[in-house]
Amino acid sequence: MANENLSVWTSIPFWRRSAAWVTGFASILLIWLTFDTLGQISMGNDADLKAGTTKRVPGPTVINYKITYEMSKKRGHEVPVIGEKEAFFGKSDYSEKEARALLHLGKLTSQAKNCMDCHTLLGNGAYYAPDLTKAWIDPAWSKTGPMMAMTGKSTREEAMAEFLMHPSTYPTHARMMPELGITAEEAKGLVAFLKHMSSIDTNGFPRNFGKEEGSTNAQ
Ligand code: HEC
Repeated sequence: MANENLSVWTSIPFWRRSAAWVTGFASILLIWLTFDTLGQISMGNDADLKAGTTKRVPGPTVINYKITYEMSKKRGHEVPVIGEKEAFFGKSDYSEKEARALLHLGKLTSQAKNCMDCHTLLGNGAYYAPDLTKAWIDPAWSKTGPMMAMTGKSTREEAMAEFLMHPSTYPTHARMMPELGITAEEAKGLVAFLKHMSSIDTNGFPRNFGKEEGSTNAQ
């Protein structure tokens, strides 16, 4: 009599063992990936910035530094580059605590005013209005862009804060951002929040983001 279980593909114990191995392997892989990701996304601190250590998510005091977006030949896309110190609203020595408090205010304001209803932040949100992930380094806000002249301000942060407080006074696109009743302190927090966000290494996302003239090639 022929044995019908001769083929391994019809053997139930074989499939049971395979399922157990695959589940076990996938669990170990997921645990490893979770810890690897946590390491990649945990926020750096002031000491990293002072030592020039590159963190994917730099510490809050990154608001004290110049941030540019430069092409990395090795990675094939732009990466944020943290440069020399620069003043932020006339102050260039925010302590970690002060910078953290400002970012926190900005984050809470962005949630309270629902920026994500219209904009995208780090991949979350809507596409009605421009992606804000790299808004801080948008050339429109640089010395050569239109926003400083339009708002009558001489720094990027002041121009951006002025726009956020009175968006309908400075329309630039066909769509207009509504007045959201943002106070000067909230605007300062929001700009700090946007500046910090632009310093996060997002693997070149969003793509095709405008580059400032004169930016060099990082390696
Ligand atoms: C109801 C929709 C809406 C909401 C809510 C909204 N915006 Fe906007 N925002 C727009 C539109 C539309 C534009 C483009 C208008 C323009 O540039 O004149 C814009 C433009 C901007 C710009 C300029 C973008 C750039 O790259 O130059 C910034 C910065 C900005 N918004 C920040 C915010 C922040 C921060 C919030 C939350 C506090 C917010 N917006 C909430 C619709 C919105």
